[in-house]
Order: sequence, then structure tokens, then C-alpha cells
Amino acid sequence: MSDRILILDFGSQVTQLIARRVRESGVYCEIVPFNRIDEAGLRAFDPRGIILSGGPASVTKLDTPRAPDAVFRLGLPVLGICYGEQTMVAQLGGEVQGGHHREFGRAFVDVIDDCALFEGVWPKGAREQVWMSHGDRVISLPEGFRVVGTSNGAPFAAIADDARRFYGVQFHPEVMHTPHGAQLLRNFTHAIAGCRGDWTMAAFKEHAIERVRAQVGKGRVICGLSGGVDSSVVAVLLHEAIGDQLTCVFVDTGLMRAGEADEVVALFREHYNIPLVHADVGDLFLGKLAGISDPEKKRKTIGATFIDVFEAEAKKIGGADFLAQGTLYPDVIESVSFIGGPSVTIKSHHNVGGLPERMNMKLVEPLRELFKDEVRALGRELGLPDSFVGRHPFPGPGLAIRIPGEITPDKLEILRQADTIYLEEIRNAGLYDAIWQAFAVLLPVRTVGVMGDERSYDFACALRAVTSTDGMTADYYPFDHAFLGRTATRIINEVRGINRVTYDITSKPPGTIEWE
Ligand code: XMP
Repeated sequence: MSDRILILDFGSQVTQLIARRVRESGVYCEIVPFNRIDEAGLRAFDPRGIILSGGPASVTKLDTPRAPDAVFRLGLPVLGICYGEQTMVAQLGGEVQGGHHREFGRAFVDVIDDCALFEGVWPKGAREQVWMSHGDRVISLPEGFRVVGTSNGAPFAAIADDARRFYGVQFHPEVMHTPHGAQLLRNFTHAIAGCRGDWTMAAFKEHAIERVRAQVGKGRVICGLSGGVDSSVVAVLLHEAIGDQLTCVFVDTGLMRAGEADEVVALFREHYNIPLVHADVGDLFLGKLAGISDPEKKRKTIGATFIDVFEAEAKKIGGADFLAQGTLYPDVIESVSFIGGPSVTIKSHHNVGGLPERMNMKLVEPLRELFKDEVRALGRELGLPDSFVGRHPFPGPGLAIRIPGEITPDKLEILRQADTIYLEEIRNAGLYDAIWQAFAVLLPVRTVGVMGDERSYDFACALRAVTSTDGMTADYYPFDHAFLGRTATRIINEVRGINRVTYDITSKPPGTIEWE
């Protein structure tokens, strides 16, 4: 087993970034809420070191989160970040003061002493840029600690107890705005905690294959293919692990982009030789969607129809013992919520929820521990073509949520053509990989134009392109005007039915990435 690091989550917005930085340095880690692990759990996880995340609470208040005492008793190195530093100090006998010297955003730390955490990055006497986000600050240290860095707002911006290998930083090394942050974390995981950095995708692949074989035995597995990266990687991994015990079902909703369905079928059936059921049910979906223009109704209709078709196809092939799913780590992490109560449903994303129970299947989820970029790396390791692995995400309901209002075959065709041109231009400009998602939206609006000497009265189309790291927040992509002009001209000239093009410059929030 690879060396591992445990991250105790106190509810920071950026806890996942700690995990990503640690993994990028070749060390496996998991995030666990501070109150979901006890001494037995810690011992069973067997980490080489523990990182305490930041969080929104204040240790100066009663009833706010604390790390389990065992964290400081097991002889393991501990790194406390922001709230993590404060609770470590408070729990070990130091003092934290509430709210006078708030520091948010860019700040500078004066390195006043050498420290294993700074080795090779921050020399004594240097002033280094960091990113801060705190209202409370440490004002006296527990026995055994010394201060190694200070800032204007935080006299104990970095502290160390070398004998116990306990370290604390008030700033956030996990965010990009702390330029040497990744190296500081690496010093903790590699030099201080002694991790070897041997967690690679090649190693993960072998391990995942063994686990799938152990879980599935001689059982039969069914996997829903969508053409997206996650389900494709699951399918190829499972095929390597259990060969023809796997059958893939591709529910072709007729709501995909131009040529996409054929690509999926060719890649999996012909290239990989994976048993594949291609349920070509576009007409069924269009029929069910006829007359529906409410976004949530569309999604629910598509979700329900998808499940019906999937279930029927699964029955046709004699059923299965397991359902394989491309669940990723961010879906699994239980986030710490201090507010409580259910969050509002903005959009009901569709997946095959409910199917495993309905059909009495167990789940196989080999990507549960991975972040999206790691899934891409695994896909490459499995030999999936780069054009597949580097694909922009595509939503389950497909083009249906990119046509506000009622969906018709004509509108789908118009949108497909516009979308193809747009993506072609993005690829030609070498911008595809710099963008998280790009697509055209066909607006239910007709506008007047003049084409040649004729009056036209056609649809308007909106182009959308966003940058994002996880789809949770996003910003519009700043194309230059020449690019936008060229693309708009091509769409208007080449696509019958569109005579006006606009570019959507809404960020998320307040907008969402998709229009519906
Ligand atoms: P929004 O529009 O909510 O989208 O900002 C965030 C990300 O999720 C994708 N998306 C979906 N994916 N089923 C999916 O599988 C859905 O119903 C769905 N709706 C949105 C969207 O493309 C973006 O990547």
C-alpha cells in the first residue's frame, strides 16, 4: 500500500485543494470530517501524517470543532492550516484571540528562522507572498513551539515544534496565490512525514483492477456509457479487469452532438471490442419531450426515460449482478456544514439514481477516490485516445438543456451545426484545452436580419465558453474580438436558421454554466 496522508476537514472552502496538492506530489490522501474519525479510525487509516484544514468557525467560541485528541498523541507529524493551526494551538495549551486583526487575500510572511517546512524554498530573512483568510490569530504558543514566520496581522504566521513534528501556518499553502505553497506542503509530506511519493496512476490502475476482480468475482457487470470521460474510463478499466463479464449499455438519447453517438460506438465496439448494446432511442426521447418547455420537467422526463430504457436493455441481456458507475471523489466527500439543513436544488442533475435498488444490483465505483484530472490521467494510462480523455464535460440531458423552450428535430439540427462550427473554430485557434466547457445555445427568439437583399427572420444563437476547475464556479472565457467575429460570421453564413449570434459573458455565480 502507498504511504498516505489524512486530511481532517474543518469546513474550509479550499480543503479539496489540499488533497489535490498532496496527490500531485505523488502521495495518496483522503479527506475526513473532523468529527467522523476516532482513535481506532486513525490507526486503521494508518497515515504517515495528518493535515488539519482551515474552517469558518472560531476556536474562541465554545462548541466549535476540535481535532480528536488522538491526533496529537499518536506520534504522527501534524500540519495545521489556518483554523487547523488555531485549534492545534488551543488544544495544546496556547492561546487564540478573536477578531481584531483580520487579514484577507494577499499578505507577506517574514521568515524569521529556518524550519523543515521551508527547506529549499524559504530562506531565513526572506519576505514571502502568501494568501491569508482569517479573523482570529494565535497570540501565545504551547510549550515546545517556536515561531518561524510572522506577518502584519499574524505574529505567529508559521510555527514549529520540531521534536513532536507539529507545524502550523496561518496562511493557506494550498491555494495558487501562495506561490511556493505546493513546495511547503511537499516538505511536510515528503521530508517531515517521510512519504515516498510513489502514488502513480500506473500503480492505481493495477490496484483498481485487483479490487474490481476481488469485488466482482464471476459476477456480471453492466455499465452505462455516456460518451463522457468518466464512464469511458470506468468501462475500459473494467474491461481490462474482467473482460466479457462486462456489458456496456449506451442509451443514445438523440440529444448528443453531431457524430458523437457514432464515435462512442466505434471506439468501444470496434476499437476495444467491448460488448456494447446501442439503444438507439432518439425518437422515444423526442416523443416524451414533445410540448415540454419547463427546464425541470425536461430534466425529469429525460432522467425517467433514461432509466426505463436502461432497465429494459439490462433485462434483455439477462440482467447483471453489478452496476458500474463513474462516481468521483468530490461526489463522495462528505462536506462539513455548519449551517445545516438541505441546500436548495438549483437543477436536478440526472444519473441512474434508484436503478441499483430497483434492479437489485450492487455498485462498482472504481473512480471513487479520484479527482477529475486524475481520471483523465488514468484514462491515458489505459490507452484512451487524448481526444476522448481531454473532452469537455457534456451534461446527461445533452442538447435538450441547450435549447430553451420546446425541443424539435429541426432545432436540434440547427444547434448541432452551429455547435460544430464553434468547436471547430476553438480547436483551430488552439484554445480547446484552455476552456472548461464551450457550447452553443439555440435561443427561442427570432430576430430580423438582412441577408443579401432579403429580409431574414431566424433564430438567435448564444455562444458560451467558461473556465472553471470543478464546474462549481466559472468565469466566461475572454475570446478576442477577431475570434468572435470570425465564428459568428461562419455560423450565420453556414447554418440555415440562425441570423444572429451573441456571446454570453455571465459568470457562475450568479449564472449557471448551462442555460437550463
Ligand atoms: P451548471 O449549469 O449547473 O452546470 O452550472 C455545472 C456542470 O454540470 C453539468 N451539468 C450536468 N451534468 N447532468 C449532468 O450529467 C445534468 O443534468 C447536468 N446539468 C448540468 C454542466 O454541463 C456543467 O459541466
